Amino acid sequence: MKVLAFETSCDETSCAILKDNKVLANITTTHILHREYGGVIPELASRAHTVLILPSLRTTLKVSGVNLHDIDLISATQGPGLIGALLVGFTFAKSLAYFYKKPFVGVDHLEAHLYSIFLDYSDLKPPILFLLASGGHTDFFLMEENRDIKYLGGTLDDAAGEAFDKGAKILGFPYPGGAKLAEIADKGNPLRFDFPRAKTPPFSFSFSGLKTSLLYFVKKRPKKFIRENLPDIASSYQEAIVDMLIEKTIEASKELNTKRIAVVGGVSANERLREKFKQEFKEVYFPSKIYTTDNACMVGIRAISLFKQGITTSLDSSPYTVYPAPNEK
Ligand code: KG4
Ligand code: ZN
Repeated sequence: MKVLAFETSCDETSCAILKDNKVLANITTTHILHREYGGVIPELASRAHTVLILPSLRTTLKVSGVNLHDIDLISATQGPGLIGALLVGFTFAKSLAYFYKKPFVGVDHLEAHLYSIFLDYSDLKPPILFLLASGGHTDFFLMEENRDIKYLGGTLDDAAGEAFDKGAKILGFPYPGGAKLAEIADKGNPLRFDFPRAKTPPFSFSFSGLKTSLLYFVKKRPKKFIRENLPDIASSYQEAIVDMLIEKTIEASKELNTKRIAVVGGVSANERLREKFKQEFKEVYFPSKIYTTDNACMVGIRAISLFKQGITTSLDSSPYTVYPAPNEK
């Protein structure tokens, strides 16, 4: 079955066509215009999606060699995300579904991140303990044997990606600095400086104390010291984030007696994280790096699974911004 998918929840305009779990084309554009503001400006993201969405579709069709008439299913991210940004992709996709008389499926952004693992590992069998670590979320989910998704808990304050991005800002890297901080960190000594690892209840995280401790660390020292020791500072800071993610995952895996782990979302692109998770767990899976950050392929693969369960979304439905825990839906 061929699915056309759109993802416009934040600052990436992404369009993809999949044939079952095989990606035929994936055109993802990151809005670099937000860089000069040091963060995503929702209004500008919406406008950028409006400009980019049609060229993205055209290129996706061209690369895949698929004609719109031959698409079996159309899908788009329904939420959570920036409302204006979601509206662009969701309405565009619904209009195509209406015109071409195709079924439509709205996809939850977090569930799409979980399903990104099946793009590479289509035969992976649940139960799977998921750690979703992105710019907006750091959550645990359990995918049960029947593929039901149960929300287990998440961060009490900042997300792990936010900790990377805010740390990067404090250290003077341009937005979005998470990946840049990680790049510098990989050249440094992770044991040189001791940053705090928060103790939190099971299935929860806290990263705001770590970020504040970096802020004071930088304020207390001369600029020259920070500049000259940047790789070690970045590396020690990154180590604290990775250690907290690992420690809580060990705890969650023991509590649930689930040995199969998948780490997904933007932060799962982190090399140090991958290395340490592989050392710690016998069975741990990561998506290909292109599928860790926001992309339409994960939306498409989730849409197919919903469609096969007989679930479609009305063309009168709207996007949503607040995420209800999946087990409370
Ligand atoms: O999943 P994603 O694209 O967006 C959300 O749904 O939030 O994740 C983006 C986050 C950003 O915070 C970014 O800094 C972080 O993922 N990220 C990384 C790396 N690459 C992206 N964090 C650490 N190391 C990386 N290599
Ligand atoms: Zn995301």
